[in-house]
Amino acid sequence: MLDVTPTPLQRLLRERRRGYSLPAEFYLSPEVFEADMAVIFGRHWIYVGVEPDVPEAGDVMVVDIGKTSVAIVRDDDGAVRAFHNVCRHRGARLVHEEKSTVGNLVCRYHSWTYDLTGALIHADHMGPDFRRGCHGLKPVHIRSLEGLLFVCLSDDPPADFDAMAARLGPYIAPHNIRDTKVAFQKDIIEPGNWKLTMENNRECYHCGANHPELTVPLFAYGFGFAPEEMDEHDRAQAERYGCLLRTHHGEWEAEGLPSKEIDELDTMITGFRTERLPLDGEGESHTIDTKAACRKLLGSLTNAKLGGLSVWTQPNSWHHFLGDHVVTFAVLPLDAERSLLRTKWLVHKDAIEGVDYDLANLTGVWEATNDQDSELVGICQQGVRSPAYEPGPYSPHTEMLVEKFCNWYVGRMAAHLGR
Ligand code: FES
Ligand SMILES: [Fe+2]
Repeated sequence: MLDVTPTPLQRLLRERRRGYSLPAEFYLSPEVFEADMAVIFGRHWIYVGVEPDVPEAGDVMVVDIGKTSVAIVRDDDGAVRAFHNVCRHRGARLVHEEKSTVGNLVCRYHSWTYDLTGALIHADHMGPDFRRGCHGLKPVHIRSLEGLLFVCLSDDPPADFDAMAARLGPYIAPHNIRDTKVAFQKDIIEPGNWKLTMENNRECYHCGANHPELTVPLFAYGFGFAPEEMDEHDRAQAERYGCLLRTHHGEWEAEGLPSKEIDELDTMITGFRTERLPLDGEGESHTIDTKAACRKLLGSLTNAKLGGLSVWTQPNSWHHFLGDHVVTFAVLPLDAERSLLRTKWLVHKDAIEGVDYDLANLTGVWEATNDQDSELVGICQQGVRSPAYEPGPYSPHTEMLVEKFCNWYVGRMAAHLGR
């Protein structure tokens, strides 16, 4: 007879209570972590970096997604390709540095040599029957969304990437990522499950109490609030913010910059959200004086006062597009209780450090914010380890996007594993 007894993970997915944080096993269990890597990171579009990570022919970037290492390569025709970073001879890892520049991809073990399209072009002593054409590097699906690079490890990637790109592309394009350079990259290992890192990013309920730098450019009223708890002063401030939002959206859209919210976080397989939000003070950038950090604006932008375009993609990224720079974040799980947060700051490719921008000023707000967030993720991970932890309620006013992240996660796991 067919065994229809649910697995422990299916039972957990079935019993998840909407509007509440997830049960502890989702943050602690090695078995759930393995399933996350197989289903979420193995079968969805994963944000890994930007085209300017590999600006020239022969540039290579290695990104590890769990046990899978991917080499992203700019080929001689300018196309960005991705391959499994595994030699087709006896499986040695091919590229070892995170960034390098090569003529061909040469395995150090027995010198099998692949060109930048992944074709095996040289393998000594293999005899007359050996067919080089059958031993090219295994390709990985890769797509560029106006310069943001996504890979999918599955042979059958979600088909709705194009639908996402069609709607998000016009928001991102004016910032012209392809014409930027990576001014700085910072990797942090956060002491928590990757879902806690994502959940923490999907709300700013914690910002007022924890992010003194970030809350200088960001308006508190953009984080959501409970109207019934507000006094007259708060209500006036919230109205002022709402008015500012509508006025700016009108102005920016008239300048050809799409700004209104799109939210498909839990309604598409390749879930995403975007909105351009006004900034406080000078309104120009995520800097401590709220002015542009880089004198050269991005793309063909001429107005620095564009607020911040925020973009979120499921399962592992968020991005802030300012007039003068872009900050982009990728979360790559390491094990059940540790996650890599990779942050890149992009400026116009012709901008010169020390002349057009000061690196400390460019990176200061988000370096501080990332460190604060990493600690918050850490205390949450400590808390969920306790037997006393039980899922707690989300705020309906400030944690809607956390709920949508969990809806998406549970929905995608159930779609692949069954509930
Ligand atoms: S394992 Fe790569 S050449 Fe032998
Ligand atoms: Fe935060």
